[in-house]
Amino acid sequence: MARYEIIGGKPLEGEVTISGAKNAVVAILPAALLVDGVCRIENVPDISDVRILLNMLEDLGAKVERDGTDTVIIDSTNITSTTPAPELVKKMRASYYLMGALLGRFGKAHVALPGGCNFASRPIDQHIKGFAALGADVDETDEYVALQPGPNGLQGNRVSLDVVSVGATVNIMIAATLLPGQTVIENAAKEPHIVDLANFLNTMGAHISGAGTDTVKIRGVESLRGGTYTIIPDQIEAGTYMAAAAATGGNVLVKNVIPKHMECITTKLEDMGVKVIIYDDAIRIIAPERLHRTTVKTRPYPGFPTDMQAQICVCMAIASGISRLTESVYETRFFGYCTELESMGADILITGKTATVTGQERLHGATVKANDLRAGAALIIAGLSAEGVTTVENIHYVERGYERIIEKMTALGAQIKRIED
Ligand code: EPU
Repeated sequence: MARYEIIGGKPLEGEVTISGAKNAVVAILPAALLVDGVCRIENVPDISDVRILLNMLEDLGAKVERDGTDTVIIDSTNITSTTPAPELVKKMRASYYLMGALLGRFGKAHVALPGGCNFASRPIDQHIKGFAALGADVDETDEYVALQPGPNGLQGNRVSLDVVSVGATVNIMIAATLLPGQTVIENAAKEPHIVDLANFLNTMGAHISGAGTDTVKIRGVESLRGGTYTIIPDQIEAGTYMAAAAATGGNVLVKNVIPKHMECITTKLEDMGVKVIIYDDAIRIIAPERLHRTTVKTRPYPGFPTDMQAQICVCMAIASGISRLTESVYETRFFGYCTELESMGADILITGKTATVTGQERLHGATVKANDLRAGAALIIAGLSAEGVTTVENIHYVERGYERIIEKMTALGAQIKRIED
């Protein structure tokens, strides 16, 4: 078991370059299964979720090349299986995109239920509703989802989502790309990675419009050709370094970002007294003497992302005054890290969907456990800002989604090392 050991109390200073977006790449790699040809995908982060996904694609018969840079070349011409290896599927959440991809390309799929970060109950009823609307016959058990064409075959249709779901929007877009007719997804998610997926598919020859609004239209095409695509920068990785700079009293230039994607986060940091300077593709964060209290409610994009809840909570924990943090996407997400932060001296009272955070002068080091990816990132920030030594255990969660985090943090002056037992 590996862990991170952090000696806190030093402001982060310098520059950090943001990697390709995890939640875009984990949708785009499965979507590459639709392409009858070679896809060259650039700016792919080297994180464990990507490595697992690439193993799954290879296991299905795709040819995958990774040349040591951030480029991955995938040739899905000779896929031989529609049953991804369950032991790999169970290692991560986004493996459920193989359902949409295999259904779209081959008309059938047999996919185990996914694993991944379990900070809440994460149903997939909206994905299933979408597949059924496209004409699939769905056999869902506690172990797997099996899809095949229903009596009227597979074709485009109108799907109105009951909840705004990133995963269901992605899965239906992927499944519908090669089906005859038009699919319209209403109440669709609008996250930057939805737009990135649409741009990838359109580059390969798909006809998708409306991505980034709440109505996405997919006009089915017969086939997709190969091509080259570059993944967008990771909004949440960028937000995590911004929060780390803010919480440590630092001054950091966060490079390779799309400032528009960061607005919901920079606005809150400004509200907390942080000076934010926006450039074309970079943002400088200059922390104040002490952060001020604020109020945050997480919402689907363009709202404040639930994936930044834990990191902003650390900022609140050391801000002056009492902050309020309300979670409206995943109610139980607080439980992944609040107890750990309390063991570092934070004062957090959770009532239903809201955490009331009474800011302390300082947190102190402790041994804490990451219970999911973003909780782990938040504990690292807490450790960097705290007095003394913090040990973060369960770091495999963090390495699922943050590329070279130790290297990047160290370059900013953090005293953090990875210890392997
Ligand atoms: N929901 C349903 N039924 C469904 C799908 C979702 O009720 O069929 C509900 C969920 O329970 C939740 C809400 O809808 O309350 C939103 O869930 P969504 O489907 O949008 O989440 P997801 O697709 O499973 C993605 C990201 C998460 C991120 C959420 C919300 C990926 C691979 N994962 O999950 O990212 O928290 O959207 O933005 O894109 C992370 O990166 O750490 C992470 C967990």
